[in-house]
Amino acid sequence: RQQESQSLYQLTEKAAEFYREKLKDHKISTPAITYLKNRGLSGAICKEFGIGLAPPGWDNLLNQLGTSAEKAEQLELAGLTIRRQDSDGKTEPGKRHHYDRFRNRIMFPIRDQRGRTIAFGGRVLGDDKPKYLNSPETPIFHKGRELYGLWEARQANRDLKRLIVVEGYMDVVALAQFDIRCAVATLGTACGEDHIQLAFRHTQELVFCFDGDRAGRTAARRALEAALPHMQDGRSLHFLLLPEGEDPDTLVRQIGGERFDTLIDEQGRPLEDFLFDLLGEGINIQTMDGRARLSKAAAPLLDLLPKGVYRQLMFQQLARRTGLEQDMLEEIIAAEKARS
Ligand code: CTP
Ligand code: MN
Ligand code: MN
Ligand code: MN
Ligand code: MN
Repeated sequence: RQQESQSLYQLTEKAAEFYREKLKDHKISTPAITYLKNRGLSGAICKEFGIGLAPPGWDNLLNQLGTSAEKAEQLELAGLTIRRQDSDGKTEPGKRHHYDRFRNRIMFPIRDQRGRTIAFGGRVLGDDKPKYLNSPETPIFHKGRELYGLWEARQANRDLKRLIVVEGYMDVVALAQFDIRCAVATLGTACGEDHIQLAFRHTQELVFCFDGDRAGRTAARRALEAALPHMQDGRSLHFLLLPEGEDPDTLVRQIGGERFDTLIDEQGRPLEDFLFDLLGEGINIQTMDGRARLSKAAAPLLDLLPKGVYRQLMFQQLARRTGLEQDMLEEIIAAEKARS
């Protein structure tokens, strides 16, 4: 098992090297280089993140690294190639069994905490679909447990004052381009508890900065729930809500790194504000009915908080907003728990 993983790490690293070489190959790389330049990325930043190019064609990587039947199997295991199937879903005998998963895409290597390349995200150069293609789960890649950019952030600064959690690869790299070297992204999945725990292992302060669109707001809500159980005293969580249509990449390119930093400091909403705003949406707290609805919605969420001063303060806040005593809120929690 361990030996298998070992060779998967090696193979994935070789693939990363292959993609990087292709980005330097002038015969094919011009459109990719132009694309990256148009998105404001310098050669130095691309190098830091190990960005590469998967060339067009069905078997470039396969021909380079899949030189034996055994190697070809490993490429499949690493998620880098896909097994051909006939219409019955069976492998066709006699034909080449595999083809490259990533074709004609900008390649972002995903590194684990030790800097080993474990997977890739690949972006199309234009408007084709899907915009991003990610490695599947493999024996060395579990996307719910990795944060893109974490290793790079730690390389830039061991002492991370905070981590900014964003949605996309490009958001991480664009922020780094503007010298904000503490952004990490979940990998095409929702931000879950494992992501939160991993991030809090490296800093006490998280800032969620998702896109100013419907998907971003949904992501923020889900991240909030995932974070609540991990809000031990001393940890802090903020939400920076971006204007409609913007993401960290588009915004930092408009306003620059310093103003982006200031924005986080000045406009980042603390967890408590964000949570009560969210819960209060569409509720008129002036009415008794509104206060009842707020208590019912808020109590089970606040109950996710670990024991501590922060939890007490949040319940106090809810008590103040609803006019209920703390022990009444406890009763509501118990009742809601019994219902579900
Ligand atoms: N994503 C994905 N597959 C898609 C679309 C999105 O895995 N088909 C993931 C990617 O990790 C992407 C993130 O969701 O980075 C956020 O999506 P979106 O905001 O649509 O993309 P951007 O990162 O803003 O992409 P870009 O700026 O390159 O257009
Ligand atoms: Mn947990
Ligand atoms: Mn988006
Ligand atoms: Mn985006
Ligand atoms: Mn974007």
